[in-house]
Amino acid sequence: MSKKILVTYASRTGSTAEVAEAIGKTLTPPSLPASSRAGGIEALSVDILPMQAVKDLSLYQAVIAGSAIRKSKWLPEAVQFIRAYQSTLRHKPLAMFTVCITLAMPNGEQYRSTVAEWVAPVRGLVTPLSEGLFAGMLDFNKLPFNWDTLMFRASVAFGIFPRGDHRDWNAIHVWAESLKPMLAG
Ligand SMILES: Cc1cc2nc3c(=O)[nH]c(=O)nc-3n(C[C@H](O)[C@H](O)[C@H](O)COP(=O)(O)O)c2cc1C
Repeated sequence: MSKKILVTYASRTGSTAEVAEAIGKTLTPPSLPASSRAGGIEALSVDILPMQAVKDLSLYQAVIAGSAIRKSKWLPEAVQFIRAYQSTLRHKPLAMFTVCITLAMPNGEQYRSTVAEWVAPVRGLVTPLSEGLFAGMLDFNKLPFNWDTLMFRASVAFGIFPRGDHRDWNAIHVWAESLKPMLAG
């Protein structure tokens, strides 16, 4: 029987979407046909979708859901997704990931527990089997110039947050690998 995993994400400037892609690729290495056995999951196949495009969770045996952080919170559409599917997600293996720029600060690792706390409202709705917290990317060219981004731009100008791409693809890959036995259900 085909077993599908959903990797779904909320992203504003694309970096979390690319993290979701990388997680999906780890779960289905290109060298293996989609129908092969991987990490105990038979006939693994993966859909990678923005949360707004998800219509039916019954197709999936497990879900990996991730969001970018803005103003110390998951994006509203991500919280909305978890709330909407809360009862279904309680009965499926669930993993969650979070992408933010705090972990890219020179002393970012010391804020890991703070970043984990930002996800507490989501953890109040569902109980993930595993959580990944990853440094993200800051590209001003992708940011609209508006009131929402102004304060953030200022904190970057003052050197609080670093620009650039700080995603650690190896850490993302290692985390995704660790999910395989859990997601087999
Ligand atoms: C307006 C704005 C607010 C942000 N607020 C935070 C924040 O409070 N904490 C943090 O660590 N990162 C913050 N970030 C950084 C993003 O989480 C980071 O750039 C992430 O990689 C963006 O993901 P995306 O490209 O999927 O939208 C903020 C970014 C923007 C543009």
